[in-house]
Amino acid sequence: MTRVVLGVTGGIAAYKAVEILRLLRESDHDVTVVPTAAALRFVGEPTWSALSGRPVATDVWSDPQAVSHVAIGKEADLVLIAPATADFLARAAHGIASDLLTNVLLTATCPVLIAPAMHTEMWQHPATQANVRLLRERGAIVLEPAVGRLTGADSGPGRLPEPVAIVETAREALRAQQRPAGYQGGRGGRSEQDLLGKRVLISVGGTREPWDDVRFLGNRSSGLQGFALARSALVRGAQVDLVIADVDAQVPAGCWSVRASSAEELRETMHATIAERNPDIVVMAAAVADFRPIPDPRGKISKESLDTDAPELHLERTTDILAELVDKRGSLPSPVIVGFAAEAPEAHESLEQRAVAKLMRKGCDYLVANEVTGGAVFGESSTSVLIVDHEGVRAHLTGVDKAAVGHALWDTIAGHRPR
Ligand code: CTP
Repeated sequence: MTRVVLGVTGGIAAYKAVEILRLLRESDHDVTVVPTAAALRFVGEPTWSALSGRPVATDVWSDPQAVSHVAIGKEADLVLIAPATADFLARAAHGIASDLLTNVLLTATCPVLIAPAMHTEMWQHPATQANVRLLRERGAIVLEPAVGRLTGADSGPGRLPEPVAIVETAREALRAQQRPAGYQGGRGGRSEQDLLGKRVLISVGGTREPWDDVRFLGNRSSGLQGFALARSALVRGAQVDLVIADVDAQVPAGCWSVRASSAEELRETMHATIAERNPDIVVMAAAVADFRPIPDPRGKISKESLDTDAPELHLERTTDILAELVDKRGSLPSPVIVGFAAEAPEAHESLEQRAVAKLMRKGCDYLVANEVTGGAVFGESSTSVLIVDHEGVRAHLTGVDKAAVGHALWDTIAGHRPR
């Protein structure tokens, strides 16, 4: 059983940490809650104790023979702080050990995941931003707050991300310490912050191509793979930006994101986001339509307006965004560009041949090829992929979860050669 320390600091979002605790316990983690004195003004000790099934450590002076200010941190597999206030970030960044939680932070050697929540002004203040930078430089995973309604009538960046999304990232931070079974590439063992200081842009989900005002052509992409890539990059220290098309899955906590629906919108949004945010790595994980209906000017097409029971749908090609990003990157600050492919090889060819041919055609640096024969992959949590670059196959994964694909990709890009 993994041991998680849940640090709760004194913000109104402390009530959401109750749900985080419940979700962690439901997935069988052993959780020690360390609330600050201010957090206890929002949610009392009995709640934390009842839901964690453990005594709650609240200050350095209680139970001194257990030396809990050292033991709790040293024994943890993950320290998760949610919500983290501006005051906590400042104390943590400067190594001030003024209460039990900041003591725990100084003794922990495991990954530290911090989910800040505060008013927009406090989040954007240069002091807070400098503290976040410092914490990230030292290897803490600091999630970007969500954008939305804050405590009062105001809204903006500063909301605590959804508890379920925070817990997903926490699980990934725990899992990243151990490479999953079936993964034969890269390093084993503890995760490293090898994407620290890197900005990764990922397109996710399936595009919807409007036919008339109410109908569209879509595809079966769930967004699971793109979001798993995002979480695996986050726990390795990257800042992750997402361009999100149609998805079923829960958007990961801690990413900057923007929505785009059709292939053309996604294309424009990718170019604009690259120009604005200057990513180091761009991953086209979205399932972009290759064809779109020629737009119908009639609004909603009614059956009466058609003079046939078998109307024809006229399609036109969309722009190949991946190939265009590669073409235009001379004028960009040259990010590494990664494509995805869903391949159904014919009997006479292998997945590798198809993957290498597509890599050459698109001109990208890496291609992650899924075999989709028989409709596999879409909406499934496990997958089998090949990662190729211009030297050939760099990783081969069979029956792994989608986060493992992310780790293999980041390993490959970071130059950790598969065996
Ligand atoms: N892609 C893109 N723009 C498109 C279509 C696809 O950027 N209009 C990207 C996808 O995001 C993915 C890669 O291209 O990274 C592979 O897409 P896929 O449709 O499998 O490749 P194609 O060669 O376009 O299609 P097919 O093999 O079906 O001919």
